[in-house]
Amino acid sequence: MRAKIIGSGSVTPPKVVTNDDLAKTIATSDEWIRTRTGIAERRVSDEATATSDLAIIAAQKALISANIKAEDLDLIIVGTTSPDTLFPSVACTVQDKIGAAKAAAFDASAACAGFNYALTTACQYIESGMYKNILVIGADTLTKYVDWNDRSVCILFGDGAGAVVLTASNDGSGILAHWLKAEGRLGHYLVMPGGGSRDPAEKNGRFIHMDGKEVFKFAVRVLEESIYAVTKLADLTVADIDLLIPHQANSRIIDHVTKKLGLPKEKVYVNLQKYGNTSAASIPLALDEALQDKRLKSGDIVVLSGFGAGLTCGANLMRW
Ligand code: ACO
Repeated sequence: MRAKIIGSGSVTPPKVVTNDDLAKTIATSDEWIRTRTGIAERRVSDEATATSDLAIIAAQKALISANIKAEDLDLIIVGTTSPDTLFPSVACTVQDKIGAAKAAAFDASAACAGFNYALTTACQYIESGMYKNILVIGADTLTKYVDWNDRSVCILFGDGAGAVVLTASNDGSGILAHWLKAEGRLGHYLVMPGGGSRDPAEKNGRFIHMDGKEVFKFAVRVLEESIYAVTKLADLTVADIDLLIPHQANSRIIDHVTKKLGLPKEKVYVNLQKYGNTSAASIPLALDEALQDKRLKSGDIVVLSGFGAGLTCGANLMRW
Protein backbone atom coordinates (compact mmCIF):
# COMPACT_ATOMS: atom_id res chain seq x y z
CA MET A 1 0.00 0.00 0.00
CA ARG A 2 1.32 3.44 -0.99
CA ALA A 3 0.21 7.00 -0.30
CA LYS A 4 -0.96 8.78 -3.42
CA ILE A 5 -1.71 12.49 -3.88
CA ILE A 6 -5.28 12.84 -5.14
CA GLY A 7 -5.78 16.59 -4.77
CA SER A 8 -3.94 19.82 -4.06
CA GLY A 9 -4.59 23.46 -3.25
CA SER A 10 -2.63 26.58 -2.42
CA VAL A 11 -2.97 30.23 -1.50
CA THR A 12 -0.84 33.32 -1.03
CA PRO A 13 -1.91 36.62 0.52
CA PRO A 14 -2.96 39.33 -1.96
CA LYS A 15 -0.38 41.97 -0.95
CA VAL A 16 2.62 42.03 -3.31
CA VAL A 17 5.91 43.55 -2.13
CA THR A 18 8.36 44.05 -4.99
CA ASN A 19 12.13 44.44 -4.77
CA ASP A 20 11.69 48.10 -5.70
CA ASP A 21 9.29 48.50 -2.76
CA LEU A 22 12.01 47.16 -0.43
CA ALA A 23 14.64 49.43 -2.00
CA LYS A 24 12.60 52.41 -0.79
CA THR A 25 13.31 51.58 2.86
CA ILE A 26 16.59 49.57 2.93
CA ALA A 27 19.93 49.82 1.08
CA THR A 28 19.26 47.27 -1.65
CA SER A 29 18.20 47.13 -5.28
CA ASP A 30 16.04 45.06 -7.60
CA GLU A 31 19.20 44.11 -9.48
CA TRP A 32 21.03 42.85 -6.33
CA ILE A 33 18.09 40.76 -5.14
CA ARG A 34 17.36 39.26 -8.58
CA THR A 35 21.00 38.41 -9.24
CA ARG A 36 21.72 36.93 -5.79
CA THR A 37 18.39 35.14 -5.23
CA GLY A 38 16.18 35.13 -8.36
CA ILE A 39 13.36 36.72 -6.34
CA ALA A 40 11.38 39.58 -7.95
CA GLU A 41 8.50 39.91 -5.47
CA ARG A 42 6.88 38.19 -2.51
CA ARG A 43 3.42 38.03 -0.88
CA VAL A 44 3.05 39.46 2.62
CA SER A 45 0.11 38.74 4.93
CA ASP A 46 -1.62 41.50 6.86
CA GLU A 47 -1.69 41.76 10.64
CA ALA A 48 -5.06 39.99 10.90
CA THR A 49 -3.93 36.92 8.94
CA ALA A 50 -2.33 34.06 10.84
CA THR A 51 -0.81 30.89 9.41
CA SER A 52 -3.97 28.83 9.99
CA ASP A 53 -6.04 31.30 7.92
CA LEU A 54 -3.90 30.46 4.87
CA ALA A 55 -3.69 26.75 5.76
CA ILE A 56 -7.51 26.49 5.91
CA ILE A 57 -7.96 28.00 2.43
CA ALA A 58 -5.31 25.69 0.93
CA ALA A 59 -6.93 22.71 2.72
CA GLN A 60 -10.40 23.51 1.42
CA LYS A 61 -9.09 23.83 -2.15
CA ALA A 62 -7.24 20.52 -1.83
CA LEU A 63 -10.36 18.74 -0.55
CA ILE A 64 -12.40 20.06 -3.50
CA SER A 65 -9.70 19.00 -5.95
CA ALA A 66 -9.51 15.52 -4.32
CA ASN A 67 -13.29 15.28 -4.25
CA ILE A 68 -13.37 14.02 -0.69
CA LYS A 69 -15.18 15.33 2.37
CA ALA A 70 -13.40 16.69 5.43
CA GLU A 71 -15.29 14.10 7.52
CA ASP A 72 -13.46 11.34 5.63
CA LEU A 73 -10.00 12.55 6.77
CA ASP A 74 -8.21 10.36 9.33
CA LEU A 75 -5.29 12.71 10.04
CA ILE A 76 -4.09 16.27 9.41
CA ILE A 77 -0.39 17.16 9.60
CA VAL A 78 0.77 20.75 9.13
CA GLY A 79 4.42 21.54 8.43
CA THR A 80 4.96 24.97 9.97
CA THR A 81 7.34 26.97 12.16
CA SER A 82 5.09 30.02 12.40
CA PRO A 83 2.04 28.62 14.23
CA ASP A 84 -0.73 31.01 15.30
CA THR A 85 0.09 30.10 18.94
CA LEU A 86 2.49 27.63 20.57
CA PHE A 87 -0.68 25.67 21.25
CA PRO A 88 -3.19 24.73 20.01
CA SER A 89 -1.40 23.60 16.86
CA VAL A 90 -2.28 24.94 13.42
CA ALA A 91 -3.40 21.40 12.52
CA CYS A 92 -6.02 21.40 15.33
CA THR A 93 -7.33 24.81 14.22
CA VAL A 94 -7.59 23.52 10.63
CA GLN A 95 -9.31 20.33 11.87
CA ASP A 96 -11.98 22.39 13.62
CA LYS A 97 -12.51 24.99 10.87
CA ILE A 98 -12.82 22.54 7.97
CA GLY A 99 -15.01 20.14 9.97
CA ALA A 100 -12.69 17.11 9.93
CA ALA A 101 -14.47 15.67 12.98
CA LYS A 102 -12.73 12.29 13.15
CA ALA A 103 -9.20 13.39 12.13
CA ALA A 104 -6.24 13.40 14.51
CA ALA A 105 -4.08 16.51 14.04
CA PHE A 106 -0.57 17.73 14.80
CA ASP A 107 2.13 20.09 13.49
CA ALA A 108 5.57 19.03 12.21
CA SER A 109 8.38 21.48 12.92
CA ALA A 110 11.21 21.27 10.39
CA ALA A 111 11.11 24.82 8.98
CA CYS A 112 11.47 24.88 5.19
CA ALA A 113 11.80 21.07 5.15
CA GLY A 114 8.52 20.88 7.08
CA PHE A 115 6.35 19.80 4.17
CA ASN A 116 8.63 16.89 3.27
CA TYR A 117 8.87 15.84 6.93
CA ALA A 118 5.05 15.99 7.21
CA LEU A 119 4.57 14.13 3.92
CA THR A 120 6.98 11.34 4.86
CA THR A 121 5.28 11.01 8.26
CA ALA A 122 1.84 10.84 6.66
CA CYS A 123 3.05 8.13 4.27
CA GLN A 124 4.07 5.92 7.22
CA TYR A 125 0.49 5.93 8.56
CA ILE A 126 -0.83 4.91 5.14
CA GLU A 127 1.88 2.35 4.39
CA SER A 128 1.31 0.72 7.80
CA GLY A 129 -2.43 0.51 7.14
CA MET A 130 -3.36 2.66 10.15
CA TYR A 131 -5.03 5.45 8.14
CA LYS A 132 -6.51 5.86 4.65
CA ASN A 133 -7.03 9.61 4.00
CA ILE A 134 -4.58 12.25 5.22
CA LEU A 135 -4.38 15.99 4.65
CA VAL A 136 -0.81 17.33 4.57
CA ILE A 137 -0.26 21.07 4.62
CA GLY A 138 2.81 23.30 4.44
CA ALA A 139 2.02 26.79 5.74
CA ASP A 140 4.12 29.68 7.00
CA THR A 141 3.98 33.43 7.54
CA LEU A 142 7.66 34.09 8.17
CA THR A 143 7.35 37.71 7.03
CA LYS A 144 5.99 38.31 10.54
CA TYR A 145 9.39 37.24 11.91
CA VAL A 146 11.75 39.24 9.73
CA ASP A 147 13.36 42.48 10.74
CA TRP A 148 12.39 44.70 7.79
CA ASN A 149 15.63 46.66 8.39
CA ASP A 150 17.82 43.54 8.00
CA ARG A 151 18.49 43.47 4.26
CA SER A 152 20.23 40.10 4.37
CA VAL A 153 17.03 38.38 5.58
CA CYS A 154 13.92 40.43 4.80
CA ILE A 155 14.41 40.22 1.03
CA LEU A 156 14.13 36.43 1.09
CA PHE A 157 10.79 35.53 2.65
CA GLY A 158 7.13 35.48 1.64
CA ASP A 159 3.93 33.95 3.04
CA GLY A 160 1.71 31.16 1.74
CA ALA A 161 0.18 27.73 2.20
CA GLY A 162 -0.10 24.59 0.09
CA ALA A 163 -1.97 21.37 0.82
CA VAL A 164 -2.30 17.87 -0.59
CA VAL A 165 -4.74 15.05 0.13
CA LEU A 166 -3.20 11.58 0.34
CA THR A 167 -5.10 8.34 0.02
CA ALA A 168 -4.10 4.69 0.19
CA SER A 169 -3.53 3.15 -3.23
CA ASN A 170 -2.06 -0.05 -4.65
CA ASP A 171 -2.13 0.83 -8.37
CA GLY A 172 1.68 1.22 -8.63
CA SER A 173 1.63 5.03 -8.52
CA GLY A 174 2.09 7.24 -5.46
CA ILE A 175 4.96 8.09 -3.13
CA LEU A 176 7.64 5.43 -3.59
CA ALA A 177 10.56 6.65 -1.46
CA HIS A 178 11.30 8.99 1.43
CA TRP A 179 14.55 10.41 2.81
CA LEU A 180 14.96 12.66 5.85
CA LYS A 181 18.02 14.20 7.46
CA ALA A 182 18.87 16.53 10.35
CA GLU A 183 22.18 18.20 11.20
CA GLY A 184 21.39 19.80 14.56
CA ARG A 185 25.06 20.71 15.02
CA LEU A 186 24.51 23.41 12.34
CA GLY A 187 21.27 24.69 13.93
CA HIS A 188 22.86 27.93 15.13
CA TYR A 189 23.20 29.15 11.53
CA LEU A 190 19.44 29.77 11.28
CA VAL A 191 17.67 30.72 14.49
CA MET A 192 14.56 32.46 15.76
CA PRO A 193 15.67 32.97 19.39
CA GLY A 194 12.67 34.63 21.02
CA GLY A 195 9.30 33.25 22.02
CA GLY A 196 10.32 29.71 22.98
CA SER A 197 10.80 28.30 26.50
CA ARG A 198 14.43 29.56 26.59
CA ASP A 199 13.22 33.11 26.09
CA PRO A 200 9.45 33.35 26.51
CA ALA A 201 9.50 37.15 26.92
CA GLU A 202 11.42 37.50 23.62
CA LYS A 203 14.31 39.40 25.29
CA ASN A 204 16.50 38.24 22.38
CA GLY A 205 14.02 39.55 19.85
CA ARG A 206 11.50 37.82 17.65
CA PHE A 207 13.36 37.98 14.36
CA ILE A 208 15.08 35.39 12.16
CA HIS A 209 18.88 35.36 12.43
CA MET A 210 20.71 33.70 9.58
CA ASP A 211 24.24 33.10 8.40
CA GLY A 212 23.32 33.13 4.72
CA LYS A 213 26.63 31.77 3.45
CA GLU A 214 26.60 28.75 5.80
CA VAL A 215 22.95 27.97 5.02
CA PHE A 216 23.79 28.24 1.32
CA LYS A 217 26.65 25.73 1.69
CA PHE A 218 24.42 23.31 3.60
CA ALA A 219 21.61 23.72 1.05
CA VAL A 220 23.67 22.88 -2.02
CA ARG A 221 25.25 19.89 -0.26
CA VAL A 222 22.08 18.29 1.09
CA LEU A 223 19.82 19.10 -1.85
CA GLU A 224 22.16 17.09 -4.07
CA GLU A 225 22.54 14.34 -1.43
CA SER A 226 18.76 14.05 -0.94
CA ILE A 227 18.03 13.73 -4.65
CA TYR A 228 20.63 10.99 -5.15
CA ALA A 229 19.46 9.20 -2.00
CA VAL A 230 15.74 9.24 -2.73
CA THR A 231 16.16 8.11 -6.34
CA LYS A 232 18.45 5.27 -5.19
CA LEU A 233 15.88 4.19 -2.58
CA ALA A 234 13.32 3.92 -5.40
CA ASP A 235 15.76 1.91 -7.56
CA LEU A 236 15.90 4.78 -10.04
CA THR A 237 18.55 7.27 -11.16
CA VAL A 238 18.58 11.05 -11.53
CA ALA A 239 18.08 10.57 -15.29
CA ASP A 240 14.65 9.02 -14.54
CA ILE A 241 13.36 12.24 -12.91
CA ASP A 242 10.70 13.98 -15.02
CA LEU A 243 10.17 16.90 -12.65
CA LEU A 244 12.15 18.14 -9.66
CA ILE A 245 10.36 20.51 -7.29
CA PRO A 246 13.04 21.86 -4.96
CA HIS A 247 12.50 24.18 -2.00
CA GLN A 248 12.12 27.65 -3.49
CA ALA A 249 14.76 29.58 -1.52
CA ASN A 250 17.28 30.87 -4.01
CA SER A 251 17.66 30.26 -7.76
CA ARG A 252 21.45 30.11 -7.36
CA ILE A 253 21.09 27.12 -5.00
CA ILE A 254 18.73 25.39 -7.46
CA ASP A 255 20.91 26.17 -10.52
CA HIS A 256 24.10 25.01 -8.80
CA VAL A 257 22.59 21.66 -7.75
CA THR A 258 20.69 20.86 -10.93
CA LYS A 259 23.76 21.65 -13.02
CA LYS A 260 25.81 19.24 -10.90
CA LEU A 261 23.11 16.59 -11.24
CA GLY A 262 22.89 17.15 -15.01
CA LEU A 263 19.16 17.88 -14.81
CA PRO A 264 17.97 20.13 -17.66
CA LYS A 265 16.14 23.36 -16.72
CA GLU A 266 12.83 22.15 -18.19
CA LYS A 267 12.79 19.34 -15.60
CA VAL A 268 13.03 21.74 -12.66
CA TYR A 269 10.04 23.72 -11.41
CA VAL A 270 10.82 27.23 -10.18
CA ASN A 271 8.31 29.87 -9.06
CA LEU A 272 10.36 31.67 -6.40
CA GLN A 273 10.53 34.81 -8.54
CA LYS A 274 6.86 35.44 -7.62
CA TYR A 275 6.78 34.35 -3.98
CA GLY A 276 10.28 34.32 -2.47
CA ASN A 277 10.91 31.68 0.18
CA THR A 278 7.54 30.68 1.66
CA SER A 279 9.23 28.12 3.94
CA ALA A 280 7.12 24.96 4.47
CA ALA A 281 4.60 26.23 1.91
CA SER A 282 7.08 26.50 -0.93
CA ILE A 283 7.00 22.91 -2.22
CA PRO A 284 3.21 22.28 -2.05
CA LEU A 285 2.63 25.74 -3.54
CA ALA A 286 4.98 24.91 -6.43
CA LEU A 287 3.45 21.43 -6.83
CA ASP A 288 -0.05 22.90 -7.02
CA GLU A 289 1.09 25.44 -9.63
CA ALA A 290 2.91 22.75 -11.62
CA LEU A 291 -0.34 20.78 -11.72
CA GLN A 292 -2.29 23.83 -12.85
CA ASP A 293 0.39 24.41 -15.53
CA LYS A 294 -0.14 20.78 -16.67
CA ARG A 295 3.51 19.97 -16.03
CA LEU A 296 2.73 16.44 -14.81
CA LYS A 297 1.32 13.47 -16.68
CA SER A 298 0.45 10.01 -15.49
CA GLY A 299 3.56 7.89 -14.81
CA ASP A 300 5.96 10.85 -14.40
CA ILE A 301 8.64 10.55 -11.73
CA VAL A 302 8.54 13.58 -9.43
CA VAL A 303 11.01 14.46 -6.68
CA LEU A 304 10.23 16.99 -3.93
CA SER A 305 13.23 18.12 -1.87
CA GLY A 306 13.44 20.77 0.83
CA PHE A 307 15.98 22.06 3.36
CA GLY A 308 15.70 24.47 6.24
CA ALA A 309 16.33 25.49 9.82
CA GLY A 310 17.36 22.73 12.18
CA LEU A 311 19.25 22.31 9.93
CA THR A 312 17.02 19.80 8.17
CA CYS A 313 16.47 18.26 4.76
CA GLY A 314 13.82 15.92 3.38
CA ALA A 315 12.87 14.43 0.04
CA ASN A 316 10.03 12.31 -1.35
CA LEU A 317 9.86 10.61 -4.74
CA MET A 318 6.58 9.70 -6.42
CA ARG A 319 5.27 8.15 -9.58
CA TRP A 320 2.43 10.42 -10.73
N1 ACO B 1 21.06 44.21 -0.90
C1 ACO B 1 22.28 44.69 -1.17
N2 ACO B 1 23.40 44.23 -0.59
C2 ACO B 1 23.25 43.23 0.30
C3 ACO B 1 21.99 42.69 0.63
C4 ACO B 1 20.87 43.22 -0.01
N3 ACO B 1 19.63 42.78 0.24
N4 ACO B 1 22.18 41.71 1.54
C5 ACO B 1 23.49 41.62 1.78
N5 ACO B 1 24.15 42.56 1.04
C6 ACO B 1 25.56 42.85 0.95
C7 ACO B 1 26.31 42.37 2.18
O1 ACO B 1 26.27 43.35 3.20
C8 ACO B 1 27.71 42.17 1.63
O2 ACO B 1 28.34 43.41 1.55
P1 ACO B 1 29.91 43.53 1.88
O3 ACO B 1 30.59 42.69 0.85
O4 ACO B 1 30.17 45.00 1.76
O5 ACO B 1 30.06 43.00 3.27
C9 ACO B 1 27.46 41.70 0.19
O6 ACO B 1 26.12 42.12 -0.13
C10 ACO B 1 27.55 40.21 0.02
O7 ACO B 1 26.77 39.60 1.06
P2 ACO B 1 26.70 38.07 1.20
O8 ACO B 1 25.96 37.71 2.46
O9 ACO B 1 28.07 37.50 1.01
O10 ACO B 1 25.79 37.70 -0.07
P3 ACO B 1 25.49 36.30 -0.64
O11 ACO B 1 25.93 36.24 -2.04
O12 ACO B 1 25.91 35.19 0.30
O13 ACO B 1 23.91 36.31 -0.67
C11 ACO B 1 22.01 35.43 0.50
C12 ACO B 1 23.17 36.42 0.54
C13 ACO B 1 21.12 35.78 -0.65
C14 ACO B 1 21.25 35.55 1.83
C15 ACO B 1 22.59 34.01 0.32
O14 ACO B 1 23.63 33.78 1.23
C16 ACO B 1 21.56 32.93 0.51
O15 ACO B 1 20.59 32.86 -0.23
N6 ACO B 1 21.77 32.02 1.47
C17 ACO B 1 20.84 30.94 1.70
C18 ACO B 1 19.72 31.43 2.53
C19 ACO B 1 18.57 30.46 2.51
O16 ACO B 1 18.33 29.76 1.56
N7 ACO B 1 17.85 30.44 3.58
C20 ACO B 1 16.76 29.52 3.58
C21 ACO B 1 16.35 29.36 4.89
S1 ACO B 1 15.24 28.07 4.95
C22 ACO B 1 14.41 28.14 6.44
O17 ACO B 1 14.30 27.13 7.07
C23 ACO B 1 13.83 29.39 6.95
